[in-house]
Amino acid sequence: MSRTCIMRTLLANAGPIAHLAGEGSLIGDDFADTEKLVTPAGMAILVEGDKLGKIVNSQEALDEFGTESNNDIKIIDLDGKAVIPGLVDSHTHLLWDGDRSREVSWRLEGHSYTDIANMGGGINYTVAATRGASKERLFELGYKRIRQALTCGTTHLEAKSGYGLSTESELKLIEVANSLKNVRPLPSLDLTWLGAHATPEGYTRQQYVEEIQTEQLPAVLEQGLARSADVFCEDGWFTVEESEDILKQAKAGGMELRLHIDEFKDCGGGQLAADLEVSSADHSHYTPLDARKAMHEAGVNTGFLPGTPYSMGEQWPDFNMMTDEGLLWSVASDFNPNCRTLSLPFIGSILTQRCGVDPLVALAATSRNPSETTPHRTGLVHGRIQEGGVASLNVVDGPFWQAWCLQPGINPFHATMLEGEMVFH
Ligand code: NIG
Ligand code: FE
Repeated sequence: MSRTCIMRTLLANAGPIAHLAGEGSLIGDDFADTEKLVTPAGMAILVEGDKLGKIVNSQEALDEFGTESNNDIKIIDLDGKAVIPGLVDSHTHLLWDGDRSREVSWRLEGHSYTDIANMGGGINYTVAATRGASKERLFELGYKRIRQALTCGTTHLEAKSGYGLSTESELKLIEVANSLKNVRPLPSLDLTWLGAHATPEGYTRQQYVEEIQTEQLPAVLEQGLARSADVFCEDGWFTVEESEDILKQAKAGGMELRLHIDEFKDCGGGQLAADLEVSSADHSHYTPLDARKAMHEAGVNTGFLPGTPYSMGEQWPDFNMMTDEGLLWSVASDFNPNCRTLSLPFIGSILTQRCGVDPLVALAATSRNPSETTPHRTGLVHGRIQEGGVASLNVVDGPFWQAWCLQPGINPFHATMLEGEMVFH
């Protein structure tokens, strides 16, 4: 990758621009409204510093500014390449050490996720390796992973702790993630504390919940670096009641809320997500329709994580039903030791090439919609190409914007603009 930095840029001769501009999230019929959300070829995008300017007629802009870069403006000829927003990954477990590749054989022998956790694999295996890793090692791993995400067109990520499971280790993970916020040019980060991810070795669940409530959460609140709190609410992990207690305490301390719900079966997490008005309730594979509707009414985004069933050889929920019912939803990578992808174009491919989702819907589900649950540190809108918003976008390597999600395993992008800086792939 090489990069250039300049105050004012004109991205000229764009192909179609799937800008997805507008207020709030897209739902229902608005999701796939190509006329409203995509401009035809022949336009140009003005960028001023780290903010987006207007989308203008390319020829008129070139007549006004000239075709060559000068001290006032940098001209980049996109040569008819399509443009889409910077992608937003609203659910990642970014920092952990260790390798769980051996679990694939256990899975192929027929062992479930729960069996594997009980056999010495799963979250607690990763916790042991992560506790033993230095801050420097975790920083290095995090840096490499965020760079990979950038190569796949991600310009903003939510990053959870959750592989420390002790006050000291959870604070360490949040601190390292926070230090990755200061590295440029890297996607921006939004931090979430997930201390209630599993019960650590040597504790009963009750003992751990008590420690979280009396020691870990107060320390996380005092540290003040994680914007949100999350809990793995699922049979065998944390109950609805435990999740509620922990999240209410986090909310009282000023944190925003997220949840892992109904990954393996309906555990009642959907109604809890609605009652607590969490920003995003994720996995949500087995949430029943009435709970989905209650979530929507409460303004809760359903954050599907299609990479996880993919990694475990399972099927996907019915994404199109969500659009047909007019419900709020998005998708994310769920990058973790059990689901090792940071590629939202790959997630988009699962949606379009496996699940019959329109590529524009898949794009909104990985850009504008998730951006609503994970704000940019500037407070500006992101996840769409809109005047006044964050100047983060992707130049697709070809004339069709749909190509962003039709090349699994291959980087579909020619370049990514990250807060006004062009990064060529
Ligand atoms: O969201 N399901 C809970 N947590 C992660 C997986 C954790 C792991 O297996 O290490 C998830 O998929
Ligand atoms: Fe997760």
